[in-house]
Amino acid sequence: MKGYVVLISIVAALGGLLFGFDTAVISGTINFIQPYFGLSEAGLGWTVSSLLLGCIAGVIIAGKAGDLYGRKKVLMLAALLFFVSAIGSATANELFIFVVSRVLGGIAVGIASILSPMYIAELSPAKYRGALVSLNQLAIVAGILIAFFSNYLLVNTGENNWRFMLLVMAAPAVLLFFSLFFVPESPRWLAAQGRHSESLRVLIKTSGTENAENELFEIVETLDVLEESYYLDLLEPKIRPLLFIGIILAVFQQITGINTIMYYAPKIFANVGQSNNSALLQTILIGGTNLIFTIVAMVMIDRFGRKKLILIGSAGMTIMLAGLSFLYFTKHTTGIMVLLFILGYIAFFAASLGPALWVVATELFPNRLRSKGMSLAIVALWSACAIVTITFPVMLEKLSGGITFLIFAIICLANLLYVWHYVPETKGKTLEELENEFSKDTESPNLKSRGHKSK
Ligand code: BGC
Repeated sequence: MKGYVVLISIVAALGGLLFGFDTAVISGTINFIQPYFGLSEAGLGWTVSSLLLGCIAGVIIAGKAGDLYGRKKVLMLAALLFFVSAIGSATANELFIFVVSRVLGGIAVGIASILSPMYIAELSPAKYRGALVSLNQLAIVAGILIAFFSNYLLVNTGENNWRFMLLVMAAPAVLLFFSLFFVPESPRWLAAQGRHSESLRVLIKTSGTENAENELFEIVETLDVLEESYYLDLLEPKIRPLLFIGIILAVFQQITGINTIMYYAPKIFANVGQSNNSALLQTILIGGTNLIFTIVAMVMIDRFGRKKLILIGSAGMTIMLAGLSFLYFTKHTTGIMVLLFILGYIAFFAASLGPALWVVATELFPNRLRSKGMSLAIVALWSACAIVTITFPVMLEKLSGGITFLIFAIICLANLLYVWHYVPETKGKTLEELENEFSKDTESPNLKSRGHKSK
């Protein structure tokens, strides 16, 4: 039973792998596409961030289409888009085709970023849900690492090297598309469509015969409240606090600065006067640390809970960034300490906020509004990601590393305080138990953590 759910989760997590790969692959191509398409700095910035625009569109599409056509079919659409994007961008001779292909890839990233974790959460037994949804984060991180490696391996293949780098993505896209034929639809979505016997069949396989009927009963009960759901329903007094938590946590995940490192590490190392030669080794160290500590999170998340993990992680991230900032202020940036503080920061992120945001985002919303609530939270995530990505190089140049990293350290501290006060613990309960618990507690205007402390 557990093996079956793990296998399904691995298939869905391929969506996460493509998400990681597609967002990171561009870094290795930049030096080659810029002269090929004759791009100015601003043009390059626009070309690179076109993916993020697509992401926002993809999340909005997924929120609606995931309810209408099911999680599985829309993930298949994402696989097709990943494939088209890989072929289109790799064979583009004109900038327009290149950008359109990247936007299509972005739509696929947007869809995968919400439907892969949601689908896994809806199929997982409560006991393992945290670890299984974190599997998706592990796949994102693995995708990033694979992109770094494959770019490195392909860099010396001649003038078409950037085309090969982008083409690599076609392989996992095909794999995702065909493997989706072998997994069931989400039992929670099936129940919402009134397809109860199909839902029960899936639940028997994922949760066991003795639990399946009970689970279906609970799912149907939560769906009874309203047949049709609208975005405006998210503003109901009982749901609104959950929506705020989802959005604020998603924004925090980005504005605590993770992608300043993921996308700009070589720039940071250059900024402190290190040679380009060590950049590759350092990127791989960063990617490797990210991967190892994501596994640490997977082992801990269902035991310690999401909240404790985020609190410890945010504290660690604050200390590491403050240390980094201190090195800049005291002009001690030449030694190994810069790398160590960055690796420490990555380790704390990977073991906490990285996976935990995606886990909590799947758990906050009631069945009938999960797709819409998550999509608003994740639109906020991609928007925050775009803002940080665009402003970071300017901040580093104009404010210097000292102030820039101090600002990110303060944001990490703010995240810690916010989570401590407002974010409920969600481990170990079924999505329906959480739904019932939240609808009771949110009758008071503020959803406070104190009412939700895990027992
Ligand atoms: C974030 C991504 C980030 C990645 C790094 C994810 O949880 O959402 O923006 O690049 O972690 O590991």
